Amino acid sequence: MGRLSGKVALITGASSGIGRATALLFAAEGAKLVVGARRQAELESLVAQIRDAGGEAVALAGDVRGEDYASALVALAVERFGRLDIAFNNAGTLGEGGASTEVSADGWNDTLAINLTGAFLGAKHQIGQMLRHGGGSVIFTSTFVGYTVAFPGVAAYAASKSGLIGLTQALAAEFGPQGIRVNAILPGAVDTDMYRSMNDTSESQAFITTLHALKRVATPEELARSVLYLASDDSSFVTGTASLVDGGVSITRT
Ligand SMILES: NC(=O)c1ccc[n+]([C@@H]2O[C@H](COP(=O)([O-])OP(=O)(O)OC[C@H]3O[C@@H](n4cnc5c(N)ncnc54)[C@H](OP(=O)(O)O)[C@@H]3O)[C@@H](O)[C@H]2O)c1
Repeated sequence: MGRLSGKVALITGASSGIGRATALLFAAEGAKLVVGARRQAELESLVAQIRDAGGEAVALAGDVRGEDYASALVALAVERFGRLDIAFNNAGTLGEGGASTEVSADGWNDTLAINLTGAFLGAKHQIGQMLRHGGGSVIFTSTFVGYTVAFPGVAAYAASKSGLIGLTQALAAEFGPQGIRVNAILPGAVDTDMYRSMNDTSESQAFITTLHALKRVATPEELARSVLYLASDDSSFVTGTASLVDGGVSITRT
């Protein structure tokens, strides 16, 4: 308890899955939270749960494709809590999949707009604020897909998510001298709405499970604990990394 005492954290994609679990863990560890996503009702129930447990949180619903939303989340953190120390840019979509010869330009662009440009716009405004206080930790949610393992039919998703690794390195090099750490977390399969939408039969879930050395998929809470490590001072010498939390999917040949 208390590993984030006195810290202010911003989390996107907090309405479900990994983002929601991370928000609950951060709050339990003492952080004051700004949470974002598009679904207002889910954000409100998250904030209520955090407050009921004695924590502090505020929500702002919006779409990460808009730069105004990125700046508004940071402004809310400063207005309500006076600073920003941690930002978890976690909002993401599978986007348009299927045969790459059939993917539309709009589908491609939209996937990149949410997964890559949205994360960049978030970091742009978050880092601008963190620099005023002498440092901070920025974390992106990437994936093993397109980094250590390739699958057919997910070109836009893989390209957008591996783009986050280049972004992580560029920002870590640029702002390291000013005390900003930037890392990407690369989950294996995690049991969330996104996972179930992609794997909606017991056969496909069994197949995905087999791909992992641990022969299971992760819970969102397991990912949250790794994000906590990157957010907290426990990782004070860690920056620019692509941090696999993948149950061994990257090293397994079935
Ligand atoms: N589950 C996995 O196996 C897995 C593996 C590797 C990486 N990931 C990554 O983990 C992250 C979280 O996904 P999850 O698995 O936890 O699934 P999830 O429960 O579907 O969460 C996705 C989150 O992103 C938000 N979001 C999507 N589009 C958005 C937009 N345009 N603007 C604002 N928020 C948006 C969603 O909220 P709203 O719908 O309310 O906007 C939701 O909170 C994603 O970046 C995903 O790519 C997941």
